[in-house]
Amino acid sequence: MVTIAVTAEGADEPRVAVSPETVKKFTALGCKVRVETGAGARSRFSDEHLKTQGAEIVPSAADALRDADILLKVRRPSVEEVKDLKPGAVVAAMLDPYGERAGLDALAATNVALFSMEFMPRITRAQSMDVLSSQANLAGYKAVVDAAAMFDQAMPMMMTAAGTVPAAKAFIMGVGVAGLQAIATARRMGAQVTATDVRPATKEQVASLGAKFVAVEDEEFKQAQTAAGYAKPMSAEYQKKQAELVASHIKNQDIVITTALIPGRPAPRLITRAMVESMKSGAVIVDLAAERGGNCELTKPGEVVEHNGVRIFGPLNLAGEIPVNASSLYARNLLAFLDIMIDKTEKVLKVDWDDEIVKGTIVAKDGKIVHPNLQPQGAA
Ligand code: NAI
Repeated sequence: MVTIAVTAEGADEPRVAVSPETVKKFTALGCKVRVETGAGARSRFSDEHLKTQGAEIVPSAADALRDADILLKVRRPSVEEVKDLKPGAVVAAMLDPYGERAGLDALAATNVALFSMEFMPRITRAQSMDVLSSQANLAGYKAVVDAAAMFDQAMPMMMTAAGTVPAAKAFIMGVGVAGLQAIATARRMGAQVTATDVRPATKEQVASLGAKFVAVEDEEFKQAQTAAGYAKPMSAEYQKKQAELVASHIKNQDIVITTALIPGRPAPRLITRAMVESMKSGAVIVDLAAERGGNCELTKPGEVVEHNGVRIFGPLNLAGEIPVNASSLYARNLLAFLDIMIDKTEKVLKVDWDDEIVKGTIVAKDGKIVHPNLQPQGAA
């Protein structure tokens, strides 16, 4: 029998790696799911509910971890947590693979098989396992809801006997998964929406959501998408043209949501101090790239700063602020991922190391960091 351990996350992480639904499905696959008491509480998954779906609720993390085959986490676990797992056990989490390296090396040294959900290949078969998409979608929604709550005006146009309330102007910078949901949410709330990106494929997506596309569409723009679907870092010349365009557009905006990222790099700087100073008092910027340095020069990660009447919010875990949905979707991503590693007939863990999904997500194995993106420059 495959034993899956789920422990509580740290104080700053409300999500959990399992849901009543996935407990039921894992149990049906012949797994035993051991959950530390209270682990699901902040996602409104009570011990009682998890238990009725088949989980074994245990009093401590240590009880959940002892001799387990698999550890599921939201965030990177500690060495302390993984050392009591079965030798060679599987650990799946959002490991923040480009984050603090010494901690990752120490985890690797414990000999567990470490899988980083952020490295999920963007192929059709892995869509249901794509945690960046499931979480970014919720973050894009919450960014607009938070911006609307911070904004001292209404979002939709309202024609009343006492006069007309104008529609808010929202500008979405970076139209990946989060940006697309931000556009859709801002539109639903009645804002007038414009959006920008460097990947040409986004132009049509923006239009199909009823927003207006604003971008520097030169030769470089036509080549800006990598085979993996991500943006490339843009040249200094492109960045200059982009900054001029943004500068003229942003000064008339009420709400700006920035989501621009390039995998494994600091977030591109799209909004300068001078641009913020050109904006209207009362405007709100929500910078979803805060964790990676921010798209706005004035963003302070985790804080709301006010500059000349413009408030700039740099949230660090927006998906975590809607933990019920975020945990449910993340837990489903993990279920789909583990499904390829569990032998249904023999009811044992059987990892196919040649599987594209396994090869894409494995970070460390047999005591060594094995992922090509994490080798020293020039190696691999
Ligand atoms: P991301 O989180 O890496 O970046 C967000 C957005 O910022 C991207 O659209 C990127 O083009 C944009 N950006 C980067 N530099 C910029 C700059 N200087 N100025 C303006 N915008 C900039 O992207 P995310 O959300 O992960 O999506 C990337 C792509 O992957 C999308 O095409 C998405 O549809 C695709 N995708 C494919 C999946 C699949 O096939 N399984 C699953 C999920 C997403």
